[in-house]
Amino acid sequence: MQVRVLPGPLILFGFLDSGLGGLVSLREFRKHSSGEVVYLGDLKHQPYGARPRGEIVSLSEKAVSFLLDMGAEEIFIVCNTIAANALGSLRSRFNVPIHGITEWVKYYTPPHDRQVVVIGTRATIESGYYQRTLKAEGIPAPELALLIEEGHWDDDVVRAYLDSILPQGEYVLILGCTHYPVLTPLIREIRPKVEIVDPAEVLFKHLRREGDGFFVHVYLTRENPKYEDFLLKLGYERDAFSLHFVPDY
Ligand code: DGL
Repeated sequence: MQVRVLPGPLILFGFLDSGLGGLVSLREFRKHSSGEVVYLGDLKHQPYGARPRGEIVSLSEKAVSFLLDMGAEEIFIVCNTIAANALGSLRSRFNVPIHGITEWVKYYTPPHDRQVVVIGTRATIESGYYQRTLKAEGIPAPELALLIEEGHWDDDVVRAYLDSILPQGEYVLILGCTHYPVLTPLIREIRPKVEIVDPAEVLFKHLRREGDGFFVHVYLTRENPKYEDFLLKLGYERDAFSLHFVPDY
């Protein structure tokens, strides 16, 4: 008798961030995995990184509920600010698998001979998460995620800002906010001796999922006409995504 192996049931993956950052991380997921994704970018409430912990917890609970209502069955928190401040509360509140971008540290050994520096939002740095887990020095970059949302990926505005916060010398630089990897070429140019680590690149090499092809349904809680261009600039093909606005979120 011939045994036929049927494909497992396909599930919808839910990804969330305050905006663009999670779409930057999703590119890393897509390098190793496939599947259909529903994505929430909570533009209406960004920057999450400037908010107190209690607000980050309640906004992220609302965002996870939205994704579950859309049919997501496994959640990926691709926002360091949420993962560093609210992962435990989200896991105790919702009965589905929830992964946090901060879990990349399980797959990373910091070097003994070099200083580790992490840049992130104020709320991520104030949580102390990376300072504790990687013995890193934490530098808040409160303006950076919003500059990237405004389209400053490679110009003098963001160059001057980075130059003002990044130390000189040789060290490992952790990009502790999912927005930041779009700045990698610029950081290489202004700090050529620095080794840059993107948490999403490390995490999604290990956390793999198999679905059918790739498609992302992007939901934004505030309209932003720049997003179509952003998605194309990030390398998503026109037939790999759809963009939606959630009114009254
Ligand atoms: N992308 C988010 C992160 O990884 C932060 C953006 C924000 O402050 O809203 O922390």
